[in-house]
Amino acid sequence: MLEQDIERVLFTEQELKDRVAELAAQIDRDYAGKEPMLISVLRGSFIFMADLARAIHLPCTVDFMAVSSYGSGTTSSGQVKITKDLSESIEGRDIIVVEDILDSGNTLSYLFRLLQARHPASVRLCTLLDKPSRRTKPITADYTGFSVDDLFVVGYGLDYAEKYRNLPYIGVLKPAVYEKG
Ligand code: IMP
Ligand code: MG
Repeated sequence: MLEQDIERVLFTEQELKDRVAELAAQIDRDYAGKEPMLISVLRGSFIFMADLARAIHLPCTVDFMAVSSYGSGTTSSGQVKITKDLSESIEGRDIIVVEDILDSGNTLSYLFRLLQARHPASVRLCTLLDKPSRRTKPITADYTGFSVDDLFVVGYGLDYAEKYRNLPYIGVLKPAVYEKG
């Protein structure tokens, strides 16, 4: 079972639910009278996106995008490729990019340049997790769920080798899992 690979739980289901509700309430206040478009960056943000969207009470639309970063190993490089583009135009729209985790910032700084070139009315970033100690690009989130130390975390959408996304909480993997390769 997946649970056996988890060393400790960082954020429980209830903690995630409570924090997502707070972020949604902040978005409801900030976008009052508007109709924001939530853009989920696949695949890591799919669960956060689903919960956040349900906790927002304003009318909003959703769209999805997938990117992959070139480069080897566990860190992303500056080279990012779109593997799935949006279905709708974002021109004149108020965009909220929904991410699982802001790490080096490579992926998002590329994505922001790309989205800005399509002339939205505004673009903000909502990330569930932030690892500020890892940042190499000058990018900050407008809405952050939790700041985390430089630990590799999984669950609630976040993966290790494509697994653990379906854990309902966020946890730290046992080192043995990495050592197995
Ligand atoms: P960045 O371009 O370095 O900011 O890459 C961010 C992406 O790396 C995230 O969207 C995740 O897909 C992945 N990532 C970074 N840290 C973690 C982690 O601790 N667990 C799982 N995925 C992570
Ligand atoms: Mg991701």
